[in-house]
Amino acid sequence: MQVNQEFTPTIVAFCCNWCSYAGADLSGTNRLSYPANVKIIRVPCSCRVNPMFILRAFQRGADGVILCGCHPGDCHYTTGNYYARRRMTLLFSMLDYLGIEKERTRVEWVSAAEGAKFAATMNDFVATVTRLGENKRLEDLRCKR
Ligand code: FES
Repeated sequence: MQVNQEFTPTIVAFCCNWCSYAGADLSGTNRLSYPANVKIIRVPCSCRVNPMFILRAFQRGADGVILCGCHPGDCHYTTGNYYARRRMTLLFSMLDYLGIEKERTRVEWVSAAEGAKFAATMNDFVATVTRLGENKRLEDLRCKR
């Protein structure tokens, strides 16, 4: 596969307030870098992410969507991330069926103490999506930049 060096993907990262967002904050505090094209959307819990949010992100031009939450068993709302995990498993398999590669979507558990993991995850995800190239499957032409 040919790697497109010019292409900069748009990445949407849904981060739960209690762990992953704090992890992102910590990575910034520790001066760890991750690409600026990762757009973080802070949500109260990973289970707050409705599958429609992800479809809408792809429709509006996202090339990859990542959902980050607390580690299983650590959710601030006890079981929210278990619901999110199940929901995303179903959604991602449906997206795969629609032709959106599995690598464009990801669920990661990042705690508030894992700033380095957050930066490494984002760097890896951006590199993967860059290799895949632009996503045109669900693109809504009315939302074209
Ligand atoms: Fe972080 Fe629920 S509060 S996943």
